[in-house]
Amino acid sequence: MTSNIKKIAVCGAGGTMGAGIAIVAARAGIETICYDMAAPGLERARAQAGSFFTKSVERGKMSEEDRTATLARMTDTTDLNDLADVDMVIEAVFEDLQTKRDLFTALNKVCDEKTIFASNTSTLSITEIASGCGREDRVVGLHFCLPAQMMKLVEASQGMNTAPKVFQAAWDWAVQVGQVPVETQDRPGFILNAVLVPFNNDVIRAVEAGIATPGDIDKAIKSGLGYKMGPCELLDLIGLDTQVRLCEAFYPVTLDPRASAPPLLRRMVAAGHLGRKSGKGFYDYATA
Ligand SMILES: NC(=O)c1ccc[n+]([C@@H]2O[C@H](COP(=O)([O-])OP(=O)(O)OC[C@H]3O[C@@H](n4cnc5c(N)ncnc54)[C@H](O)[C@@H]3O)[C@@H](O)[C@H]2O)c1
Repeated sequence: MTSNIKKIAVCGAGGTMGAGIAIVAARAGIETICYDMAAPGLERARAQAGSFFTKSVERGKMSEEDRTATLARMTDTTDLNDLADVDMVIEAVFEDLQTKRDLFTALNKVCDEKTIFASNTSTLSITEIASGCGREDRVVGLHFCLPAQMMKLVEASQGMNTAPKVFQAAWDWAVQVGQVPVETQDRPGFILNAVLVPFNNDVIRAVEAGIATPGDIDKAIKSGLGYKMGPCELLDLIGLDTQVRLCEAFYPVTLDPRASAPPLLRRMVAAGHLGRKSGKGFYDYATA
């Protein structure tokens, strides 16, 4: 599958997801402009890309020449005007509707009329992000998984005004760069999080009810269902504060009681037990 998208920009490329998406694009031969409002984030992301590709060379997955060429395809900027001639922008800025809308509205003035705008949002509506930006027909959802450079899945979605040929172009690009796209509705959580958020809440409620310890629940899910990671381990990795935010995005839209934040989750977050990033969640990482 070949796509006409040869040059992209990643907005929020200094952040967790943007840095990974830029790696995915550049290693597939795409000229990649890494844009962020914060220069230190871009510097961190460049160092991260450098060491990621160094490991790829050490593992024999990439030659030293390819590493040099790939890094040369990635350019950093904090100036939005540098994004004028890209074929597609993928935004991975803060998960905030107004921030994403303002960005697309500003980009609409800067970018060529052919440029596709893709959003990596996890919980916001593609239709709402596109609304009022001035090119609603050229906005799509491309939701990568963390870490994007390791995970193949991309959940692709159309807003109510997305032109089918634009969706197809974004889909073809995802395939071309080696990802595995699946089509999903413009709904919070798309496929994975829509299933995972209530499931993870069920697990938290099971811990709270004393049904089993986090360790035994994880052991059961891993050995019984063949999951690589148990739900408590996964929640600690995602961050328990992030799980609360996901619940807050889902529950008002779905009204599914399983999507509402369990009391234990709220207490853990209030206590600062956020998972790996704080050193304590369902597990203790202080001595790890
Ligand atoms: N972290 C995850 O597990 C994950 C997984 C899939 C999707 N997402 C989605 O990806 C997006 C980014 O999440 P993240 O975790 O990488 O966030 P993050 O906070 O790590 O990074 C966001 C980056 O965007 C930059 N930024 C914010 N507003 C900007 C603007 N107006 N212009 C330019 N740069 C701006 C920030 O400086 C920062 O570098 C969100 O929409 C999130 O829902 C996150």
